[in-house]
Amino acid sequence: MPYPTSRRAFLKFVASSPLFAPLGPAACGTGKDAPVSHILDRLGTVGEPDQDLGELIAAPGAALDVFDFRVTAERALPPAHYGYIATGVDGDATLRANREAFGHLQIRPRRLVDVETIDTATSIMGTRCDTPVVIAPTGSQRAFHPEGELATARAARAKGHLMALSTVTTTSVEDVAEARGEPIWYQLYPTSRWDVTEQLLRRAEAAACQVVVLTVDLPVTSNRLTLSRYIKRDTRDCSQCHATGPSEYGAQNTSFSRKPMFDGTDIRDAEFNTPALTWDFVDRLKNSTRMRVVIKGIVTAEDATRCLERGVDGIIVSNHGGRAEESGRATIQSLPEVVRTVRRRVPVLVDGGIRRGTDIFKAIALGADAVCIGRPYLWGLAAFGQPGVEKVLDILSAELATVMRLAGTRTLAEIGSSSVVTA
Ligand SMILES: Cc1cc2nc3c(=O)[nH]c(=O)nc-3n(C[C@H](O)[C@H](O)[C@H](O)COP(=O)(O)O)c2cc1C
Repeated sequence: MPYPTSRRAFLKFVASSPLFAPLGPAACGTGKDAPVSHILDRLGTVGEPDQDLGELIAAPGAALDVFDFRVTAERALPPAHYGYIATGVDGDATLRANREAFGHLQIRPRRLVDVETIDTATSIMGTRCDTPVVIAPTGSQRAFHPEGELATARAARAKGHLMALSTVTTTSVEDVAEARGEPIWYQLYPTSRWDVTEQLLRRAEAAACQVVVLTVDLPVTSNRLTLSRYIKRDTRDCSQCHATGPSEYGAQNTSFSRKPMFDGTDIRDAEFNTPALTWDFVDRLKNSTRMRVVIKGIVTAEDATRCLERGVDGIIVSNHGGRAEESGRATIQSLPEVVRTVRRRVPVLVDGGIRRGTDIFKAIALGADAVCIGRPYLWGLAAFGQPGVEKVLDILSAELATVMRLAGTRTLAEIGSSSVVTA
């Protein structure tokens, strides 16, 4: 690929990269040095739905729901960084679908149940948790707050959540594992070079990760137009954080080589687009690690069957938060066929558009063992760092407890298929 030299070419590259990998706040900043003009220039109809929800808040404690953090995060971040969180693909139809589909599920509450005491505890991949909410892997968190993944890990520790760490983390797996204090999950993006994969696996294992999450929904670059639109509004010079690097490297590889997980690894020839990847990679992965293997990005019964045939240990029903293919289909709509296929043989998790306790309740009712959240905790991180993430987690937990009480369900096990109906 020819090397982009001009700012415009560089930004075009960044927008088209599947993994857009900002390195951190050093020069790009996380908002303090950002022009404030973008605040008045909100992009209105692109990105997430519910744009009318949320209010600017001055402290985490002032938040009424997670949307207050979205509004506050948008104001705190430079446009390109906020756009990286906000973006879906093409016309953002899948992003919207992920949210809107929850509106087509209605809750069927039972009355006169003693709900004085409720219990949201569960066991996820052998780990006992007080909550079914898992922190989804998201890249480049230091682009949102100087403490990045460490702030997220500390919040996860304080609130007792499982956390998955992205391959394109801006903090090393060793440091994040230490900050979390309990084993974290390691999310793996495959590359064209197996030795690179192996090095990542060995580091994750040495950092006591017990689960590797293989993301399979981005074999090629997706078309993140909303990100491109935000980048167009960003007038900063981004070259210090976003590598434009030596010419023998591709730009993406240069950017990746500056990520902590690739420290000391020569990734010159590694391809991060892996269109030729097949289920054989899953076999190889299974045979090469002692970690449990979870596949993230499954949305069909057929692929759920393949996962079971391959002996995977868990499935995450996910469309990358509407950032992979523009299917127009919500993950909560994909969940039932996966659940029917899996028949409780391995845990099934789901992510995409979970913003309220009622969304968690509906996912559990449709058979999910747990849910993952992406953007909500990033909004909390961008707005206030660790306290922001903690408050997002608190809000979701409190909302889940409330809907469980109002629906007459005392445990997650009592939330069943009769707890919801399709509108
Ligand atoms: C900014 C951002 C970065 C992400 N980075 C990764 C990543 O590095 N690896 C991955 O498997 N998924 C990544 N995802 C997808 C999330 O893991 C998750 O599937 C998605 O965010 C869930 O949807 P939600 O944001 O609506 O909750 C990312 C999502 C966002 C918003």
